Amino acid sequence: MSFPDQLTNDLKSALTSVGITELPTAPTVTVSQDTRFGDYQSNIAMVLAKVEKKNPRELAQQIADHFPEDSISAKPEIAGPGFINFRIKPEVFAAHIENVARDPESRCGHTPVAEAKTIVLDFSAPNVAKPMHVGHIRSTIIGDTLARIARFSGHHVITDNHIGDWGTQFGMIIHGWKTILNTSELENDPITELLRVYKTINDQCKADESVRNLCKAELVALQAGDEENLQIWQRCVELSIAGLKGIYEKLDIHFDHWLGESAFNGRLAPLVTRLIDEKIAEESDGAICVFFPDIKALKDRPCLIRKADGGFLYATTDLATIDFRVQEWQADEIWYVVGAPQQLHFQQIFEVAKQMGHKVALNHIAHGSILGDDHKLMRTRSGENVQLTDVLDEAVSRSRAAIEAKNPGLSDDEKDDISEIVGIGSVKFAELSQHRMTDYVFSWERMLALTGDTAPYLQYSAVRIQSIFRKLEKPQEEIDTLLTTSPVTLSENAELELARQISRFPEIIPTVLDGFRPNLLCTYLLDLARAFHSFFEACPVLKAEDKSTINSRLVLAHATVRTLTTGLSLLGMKVPEKM
Ligand code: ARG
Repeated sequence: MSFPDQLTNDLKSALTSVGITELPTAPTVTVSQDTRFGDYQSNIAMVLAKVEKKNPRELAQQIADHFPEDSISAKPEIAGPGFINFRIKPEVFAAHIENVARDPESRCGHTPVAEAKTIVLDFSAPNVAKPMHVGHIRSTIIGDTLARIARFSGHHVITDNHIGDWGTQFGMIIHGWKTILNTSELENDPITELLRVYKTINDQCKADESVRNLCKAELVALQAGDEENLQIWQRCVELSIAGLKGIYEKLDIHFDHWLGESAFNGRLAPLVTRLIDEKIAEESDGAICVFFPDIKALKDRPCLIRKADGGFLYATTDLATIDFRVQEWQADEIWYVVGAPQQLHFQQIFEVAKQMGHKVALNHIAHGSILGDDHKLMRTRSGENVQLTDVLDEAVSRSRAAIEAKNPGLSDDEKDDISEIVGIGSVKFAELSQHRMTDYVFSWERMLALTGDTAPYLQYSAVRIQSIFRKLEKPQEEIDTLLTTSPVTLSENAELELARQISRFPEIIPTVLDGFRPNLLCTYLLDLARAFHSFFEACPVLKAEDKSTINSRLVLAHATVRTLTTGLSLLGMKVPEKM
């Protein structure tokens, strides 16, 4: 249990001893901004004093006097208008550090949630034969991190890449496939060739109505089950998926399922019939819609589920997908990591799902965009969408150049490995360290800097800690024994401050899921790394005065690097051996 949770329990029992059992709100314990006043604090006395019509400072004092002796906190102190300040006992910090260093499961003090939920995570979901651009990068990276953190927290997580594999773009692609396809390019680089075909025909459509009509005819034929068109469609989807898998491989991101839109085609007509039968949907000018007369935000925004020409829509597919995820996977929650422009779409389908009687908790985890230097949507110099593969390749080659300059003596293989880990990590960390709703400016210099709030800074910190153990020049077994048997004592301020940061990990993880804010984990890891560097400057480790101090500090360093690498792995980032 995290320290704030333990303190909350202690507060409750102190309140009971004082005779207060009915609480208007659960007591909250927050971290202190200024450690001179303690490690954590609570304003519960001020909240209760109002209700109980008492003096807040006196009430705070009473609570402190009845605080359990065996608490992790020393006797609480009262400050200001009635804050209760807690100072964690040094031996509690020390025991925590020993536990983090020794835990065979490397949970860094975190306990899995008591009630595991089945959570379906819908993220990335690019569209076939359209570019997976940097807009998708946000969904991909945020979604993967949330999946990792929810899993680590003990939930049953199912990741599903709901790719757009059945849209109107296939009219254009099939027409292009039949007229302008370059088969050898298709073999070389299928994604680029499919994209070229799509773009070329798209441009032709804008200029020429006859091309538009040809594309429309191909789409109608596909939807009617035309053999040849279905085969072309199938090939496009296969090639696209193969190309996408290459990108996800580089990112170390994997999906449990790839149930694209087309997987739900057979469920659309029955779903619409059911919505009509249940009087949720109705006909309007030949189309079938769900109206929301009672919801202010959706009053004039009906959800269209079948067009007058009989075609189904994005919303219809999403509703069928919810049905499937609830029936087949027993989803308790579905999380959609999709850009903010789709907010209305999700509001509508969530409301329809509710009317259908679904109890599943539905969350749209929206995000902003990535901007270029000019603070407009990021584009290439020729004005096109920047492609994710290009971003990743450039990140790797830029970090390769940095490694080359910093550490020319490494072997080529080592340089390759390191630049891959650092380059991909930099793109991920730049993304995750922003609040997801912020539009952020993409900057290579900022994301690759060795100092500052970056991936290389954190990765380098972990490498540096690992190198302390290498300098020991002892067999791993001996080091393991040392780490599992040496007691920790914390006497210097810098040691205590580092221990305090390490102990915060279990309280940070739930706050990330509560509000879907991986940026809180990023900030935490930066604080942790900074606390380590201050400790390392103030306290010699291998050159400490006596053996027990050396060993205690080694355990502290080990607990740090464990927490750092565990945190980084939850962000989908790796740590190289050297840097
Ligand atoms: N393919 C869509 C797009 O690129 C995103 C799909 C998101 N997931 C969903 N279930 N609607 O805009």
